[in-house]
Amino acid sequence: MTMMNSNAASASARPGSDDVLREADAALRRRLVRLCAEGWALWDRFDEEVRAHRFHPFVAADYEAVVNALMPHRGPGLRFLEWGAATGVITIIADLMGFDAYGIELDPDLVATARDLARRYDSRAQFVVGSFLPTGYEWRPSHGDGRTGTLGAGASGYRELGHSLDDFDVVFGYPWDGECDLMLDLMNRYGRADATLLVNHVTDGVLAYRGGRVRR
Ligand SMILES: C[S@@+](CC[C@H](N)C(=O)[O-])C[C@H]1O[C@@H](n2cnc3c(N)ncnc32)[C@H](O)[C@@H]1O
Repeated sequence: MTMMNSNAASASARPGSDDVLREADAALRRRLVRLCAEGWALWDRFDEEVRAHRFHPFVAADYEAVVNALMPHRGPGLRFLEWGAATGVITIIADLMGFDAYGIELDPDLVATARDLARRYDSRAQFVVGSFLPTGYEWRPSHGDGRTGTLGAGASGYRELGHSLDDFDVVFGYPWDGECDLMLDLMNRYGRADATLLVNHVTDGVLAYRGGRVRR
């Protein structure tokens, strides 16, 4: 009788695995909130110091919406890639969630910012300077206008990354208006059929695509 009572008492004092997971998720959420806030501050500074003087294609995605969209895609050993990683906030979010996370960005100053941010968050997220367009890729839409909008040209970043696009389970992009179709085409031609493409749309929020179709 006494034994049973003491076991029951210690079992109720000890957190169960659900509690441990909830506490780990709460701790992760707190880190992500801090990271998003720092991301917004970096974006404000960039907007004031760079974009106020000249065009630059970096505009920050809706970080909090990306956190919520990415959460259900977590899983052990999964690999994440951000196309056009800018200050690295989203790639670092993915790393803190447990993905093996990588970002490709054309602007070397932004990559330096991203690496510094990763260091300050003890993140193993990796960043390379380069283009997320694979070598030889050509955008040939059926409407015939193959201009690539705000997307810049540069040496492809995959070789330095040590991975090709079909090595990734989840890919994220924040396209400017009219550039989403190119991202879907890229994923269709070079990505894995079972991989997820998360796209931050300006009006519709973050949508998940698989095989070129939105998954609900
Ligand atoms: C709309 S911003 C998105 C930034 C970041 N992904 C986010 O969601 O907050 C697009 C980014 O892609 C970068 N970029 C443009 N063309 C690129 C290319 N071909 N390869 C890699 N990055 C590119 C820009 O420098 C810019 O930082």
